[in-house]
Amino acid sequence: MKIAICASEGAPYAKSGGLGDVMEALPAALARIPGNEVVLLLPYYSKIKENAAYPTEKVAEFRVSLGWRRQYCAVMKLTNRSDGVQVYFLDNEYYFGGRSGAIYGDMDDGERFAYFSRACLDALIAVDFIPEVIQCNDWQTALIPTYLKAVYFKEFPKTRCMYTIHNIEYQGWANAGFFDDMLGLPWDYRSTLDMNNSVNVMKGAIETADMVTTVSETYARELMYPYYAHGLDGILANNAWKLKGITNGIDTNTFNPETDKALPAHFSADTVAVGKAACKAALQKEVGLPVRPDVPLMVMVTRLAGHKGLDLLCYIARRLMWEEDAQLLVLGTGEPQYEAFFKDLAGQFPEKVAAKITFNLGLAARIYAGGDIYLMPSKSEPCGLSQMNAMRYGTVPVVHATGGLKDTVPPADENGEGGLGFTFQSYNADDFYASVKRCLDLYNNQPEAFAALRRRGMETDFSWNVPAAKYMAIFEEMLSW
Ligand code: GLC
Repeated sequence: MKIAICASEGAPYAKSGGLGDVMEALPAALARIPGNEVVLLLPYYSKIKENAAYPTEKVAEFRVSLGWRRQYCAVMKLTNRSDGVQVYFLDNEYYFGGRSGAIYGDMDDGERFAYFSRACLDALIAVDFIPEVIQCNDWQTALIPTYLKAVYFKEFPKTRCMYTIHNIEYQGWANAGFFDDMLGLPWDYRSTLDMNNSVNVMKGAIETADMVTTVSETYARELMYPYYAHGLDGILANNAWKLKGITNGIDTNTFNPETDKALPAHFSADTVAVGKAACKAALQKEVGLPVRPDVPLMVMVTRLAGHKGLDLLCYIARRLMWEEDAQLLVLGTGEPQYEAFFKDLAGQFPEKVAAKITFNLGLAARIYAGGDIYLMPSKSEPCGLSQMNAMRYGTVPVVHATGGLKDTVPPADENGEGGLGFTFQSYNADDFYASVKRCLDLYNNQPEAFAALRRRGMETDFSWNVPAAKYMAIFEEMLSW
């Protein structure tokens, strides 16, 4: 099958979060399936352009129509990827060059990604790759199914489009004038994109895509409710017949405690006791905590954003630190009130708490490997990848049973039996506290049961093989219509 995947970020070239990880592993997993031809389209950010590790050759050049604008685009073919995925970067210096260095956050993000969405379709025509399926992601490429239906149906007469929601909070809102000024779509699509007299490109994609997926089965069900859907529950309910959840995997080659170059010691499920002890001691030293092998080390690698459940942790952190002989290590950047809270907490409990307010992939890997307990109390979580990374590295998760956390961390009982971690059902700090306590008690009082739980997590298959097959099944279904 010929498959084109379009996204605003993809590791290792450009990544700001989980979408970037998925765009590294999913295309590769699809390319491993015999008979597939996979193309990945990404913006040519200056960071990629300037990186000598990513040599390219120019294979096409054209102009992209954006309302009255005719914007330059060059298709830059990556020449050194060897896993069967053909990557094309779309080059436009004005939209993706220079700038702040961040992928998002510019005033004209709406225009930048409207341009990219349309340019993807022009690029596929230019390189003569008319796919059977286009898979696109989040608000940044949400205009693709709409352009496909409204403007490009002659060039792509049989192409089906899957639209995947990684996070419904960011929908791509613009004022009503954006439709006329920027999009150049036929007028009958005005209402398709309209929401509350504004343009909402995610809403348009839900209406026009052949299938809509999201990144876990539980999140697909949750999206029927206003609490989770950020205003789109009605639209999704009307389109429920085409909404499916496929729980993400992780890249088990990149995230492998036996080979990960960032780690001071390597281990497998058989050697985890020794290997983790070495990683833990090195980690405690690296972050300035007392090197104590027996004390449980609770860790968190996260964007410091409200929906990651930080308010729950803030609420219980002092009590936990007073009551427990335990350590807490937080890595991440984000909202200033949380950065301040964790710095302050580390100041108050220097022997117990370390806060690393930075973005550091190497340290993140050392934390997955060196920690004992991984905290992830997210208020909502479309899928979440770090809980899977943690389990793969032998760190037991404590999570809020929501979205992909519910699907990937079945609950263990107080003896550590039956699941892969500890969970709590309703979003409140006391329930979170109780589940952290259950986990600490197991660690302190039943070390063998804790080790067995850790081992089950390490032995669970979180690879992309299963989800990739589910994507294929939906692609096949769309093509059978
Ligand atoms: C977004 C979601 C996260 C998910 C990731 C990859 O970042 O917030 O839950 O794991 O996308 O799909």
